Amino acid sequence: RIAALTPPDILARKGGEPLVCLTAYTTPLARIVDRHCDIVLVGDSVGMVLHGLPSTLGVTLDMMIMHGKAVRRGVERALLVVDMPFGSYEESPEQAFRNAARIMAETGCSAVKLEGGETMERTIRFLTRHGIPVMGHIGLTPQAVNSFGGYKVQGRGDDAFHILRDAEAVADAGAFSVVLEKVPAALADRITATTPIPTIGIGASASCDGQILVVDDMLGMFDTFRPKFVKRFAELGQTADEAIADYASDVRARRFPAAEHVFSDTAPALHKGKT
Ligand code: KIV
Ligand code: NA
Repeated sequence: RIAALTPPDILARKGGEPLVCLTAYTTPLARIVDRHCDIVLVGDSVGMVLHGLPSTLGVTLDMMIMHGKAVRRGVERALLVVDMPFGSYEESPEQAFRNAARIMAETGCSAVKLEGGETMERTIRFLTRHGIPVMGHIGLTPQAVNSFGGYKVQGRGDDAFHILRDAEAVADAGAFSVVLEKVPAALADRITATTPIPTIGIGASASCDGQILVVDDMLGMFDTFRPKFVKRFAELGQTADEAIADYASDVRARRFPAAEHVFSDTAPALHKGKT
């Protein structure tokens, strides 16, 4: 078994070779992601990606734990991080610790991610001081979509100051890395240059210490959801559509199953012995 990457390994990569990160929610895709990536994130995006929810707000601790367990079975080398869902950590550092400990114990992940900068500073400090490595997440934090009034770029103009403060707070509190989501590239450059922990960009900048995308987005699973910051490295949705259309027409024309897909009356062992 190959040694898995740890939060200190990731922290040590600040300013070095870019950290390659993707989400995963199931064992089969986690195995593929693990072959190529440094960090596998079980994102609360699972709610929108796999469960058809309108936002991440309806994602529960039980959903995160279920997908975390599935992904754990497929990950050997990468660092496994699981998102804390909306409502599971905001009340107090104690609430956050209780739920993060449950996520870690039940999934076997090595770290959790939670959204928020300055407002989460105390909580991140409490978790990191009690043995729970934390990845921060600032800029566009999707769990706050209602407060933002949509999935808008954060930190433009004078707002940049707030995001800079958030980055500082998250790093001061002891996080081993921080996701920067949907912020101007120049701001991401500045945070990356001034923050002592690795920045992981999504809709941020190529200068970040790493990049992350939602795996189903970069595989092209969706035909309607096409944000500017997602590069589609495949068109799996279209491939699946074509394959399923072929299957449907084969079944309707009785072309499937063909001779090679059906079983003869002769027992395979006997058949082998005769020939
Ligand atoms: O939930 C998620 O997938 C995330 C990443 C996109 C950073 O938080
Ligand atoms: Na998330």
